[in-house]
Amino acid sequence: MSLNALIDIDALSDQHIERIIDRSVALLNGAEPLIRSHIMANLFFEPSTRTRTSFEIAARRLGLTVINMDGPRSSMTKGESLIDTLATLHAMGVELAVLRHGQTGICHEILNHLPDGLALINAGDGCGNHPTQALLDAATLTSLGVAFRDAKIVIVGDLRHSRVARSNMALLSRLGVGNITLAAPEPWLPETVPDGVMVSQSSTLDDALDDADVVMMLRVQQERMDEGVDWAAYHADWGLTTQRLTRAKPDCWVMHPGPMNRGIEITDEVAGGAQSLVLKQVQMSVCTRMAIFESMLA
Ligand code: CP
Repeated sequence: MSLNALIDIDALSDQHIERIIDRSVALLNGAEPLIRSHIMANLFFEPSTRTRTSFEIAARRLGLTVINMDGPRSSMTKGESLIDTLATLHAMGVELAVLRHGQTGICHEILNHLPDGLALINAGDGCGNHPTQALLDAATLTSLGVAFRDAKIVIVGDLRHSRVARSNMALLSRLGVGNITLAAPEPWLPETVPDGVMVSQSSTLDDALDDADVVMMLRVQQERMDEGVDWAAYHADWGLTTQRLTRAKPDCWVMHPGPMNRGIEITDEVAGGAQSLVLKQVQMSVCTRMAIFESMLA
């Protein structure tokens, strides 16, 4: 069955999740794409390198026509609403919109006001959700044979502002991950976790890393904070170093959604080391976004 919106992980049935992850891995391994024509629009109102580019490359690999709209240079600066903007694009033939926006919850707000026939993908809304990042992270781990049920997955850092962490908690829980551990300074722990998600919390990174199979580092999102950050103190307590990583299992994978603050969340040695999946996540991002397009447009 085809999806008409991907706003958060809860929007996905178990079958959708399984299909997107399986198709991501199949496309990585050279499977033929299922769709070839349609018009999609990238609407980005916040900066992006990976998400915007990988959606565009995924679309082009499927033969879609891609419209890149720079939100801050659109007629919304003249007062046009987001819904009117989407309706205008749909009237020109756009069938799928990929939206990144700084306002938490905006995709949920507009979902019931979309023109009929326009599909919507949430490419990151404020501190809300980033479901396609979570799906590509899960596809990356699946491609490496990680057994979710037996895994201890540690999510580290600025959890309070992280839409990536929120979507990953929801998806990892749905995939049956046995131990999801959150590790952060107290002010950066999340105020809530997604409904039904069980997590452990750790007040030190060293303790959190014990026996970890996967560690997901998060970017410190200073742009979403009122207070300044003592970067040196943060790195001393929460930065992932080669020495700290020895607390985890010897084959523990290291993930980071990017962009990385090198020398803050993660050292150069760890980011570029043999356990790092940072560029594999980026490689998989194209395949997962192709698989999502197939789920929505085929
Ligand atoms: N991971 C991620 O969303 O990166 P960008 O902000 O570069 O898209």
